[in-house]
Amino acid sequence: MPSRTQPPSNAPAPASPTAESAAKPAAKRSAKAGSAKAKAKAEPASAKAATSATAKSAKAAPMTAKTAGTAAAKPATKPASRPAAKPVPPGRFITLEGGEGAGKSTQLRRLLARLQAAGIDAVGTREPGGSTGAEIMRHLILSGAAKPLGPLAEATLFAAARADHLDATIRPALARGAWVVCDRFADSTRVYQGALGNVDPRLIAALEEVTVGETRPDLTLILDLPAEEGLARAAARSGRDADRFESEGLAFHRALREAFRALATSEPERCVLIDASFEAEAVEEAIWQAVSTRLKLPAPRRRRRS
Ligand SMILES: Nc1ncnc2c1ncn2[C@@H]1O[C@H](COP(=O)(O)OP(=O)(O)OP(=O)(O)O)[C@@H](O)[C@H]1O
Ligand SMILES: [Mg+2]
Repeated sequence: MPSRTQPPSNAPAPASPTAESAAKPAAKRSAKAGSAKAKAKAEPASAKAATSATAKSAKAAPMTAKTAGTAAAKPATKPASRPAAKPVPPGRFITLEGGEGAGKSTQLRRLLARLQAAGIDAVGTREPGGSTGAEIMRHLILSGAAKPLGPLAEATLFAAARADHLDATIRPALARGAWVVCDRFADSTRVYQGALGNVDPRLIAALEEVTVGETRPDLTLILDLPAEEGLARAAARSGRDADRFESEGLAFHRALREAFRALATSEPERCVLIDASFEAEAVEEAIWQAVSTRLKLPAPRRRRRS
């Protein structure tokens, strides 16, 4: 079997709102943490000792009836009541998968627009890429430099790019409660390097375990289309003959479709197979149905009466 590179997502890099902007909160946080550290360093030794002593005594002395009484004997000063911080609702992670030209990038844009219209903070991103580090890896992978090394090397390169993408873009966005929609993700590695590239499934699973960990997609939309139609769409889009991936041959693309369909069958709780042969509006509607059925959309904001 010839070596293969997982095909690129041709979504804009990054989709709006930008993957860079999704990465910002993390950068902000680390800058904040850095300044707190610097402040702690600059603190005079006595103040530092006092802080640690207070912390120590608080830790060592749990509140008893006696200490409660002592506190009550002091002038009654009401502790400033702070409103409890609202817990951040967890974000949702949606991935779009499928063969060449199936409409992943088209539907990502449409889904983002619908989520945003529903008042959801939604971030679009893609693989390979989606973060500064992973975009560098994208160029390395897609230049074909790794092709002679075979699917195993490619799988590890994709995993390295994915690790950066998750750390810099996906996890920070999910942590702030955003919904992340990603054009291709770990399933593409499973299919291209695993099912079609014959990389040992144990290695594919181990790479996923280490890089993706618990950040598994909540929902994976698999766009299903006969290989010929996908290739025709892709060729029409680019206005040229088949590119490196498209020229892999029809048998390859047919096998790819079957591998994605098998994946949808094997994980029905996560995956939804979408018939992508209809026009874009109808596919968008089917995707919206799946998203609204599988994931809890926030209630629409009520307008206040004046
Ligand atoms: N439902 C549809 N019907 C007809 N044409 C479509 C449909 N969806 C997308 N297209 C067109 O097909 C081409 C491929 O779509 P798109 O780029 O979204 O596919 P893709 O899955 O992202 O492809 P790739 O795997 O190459 O990244 C584009 O020119 C797009 O406008
Ligand atoms: Mg694309």
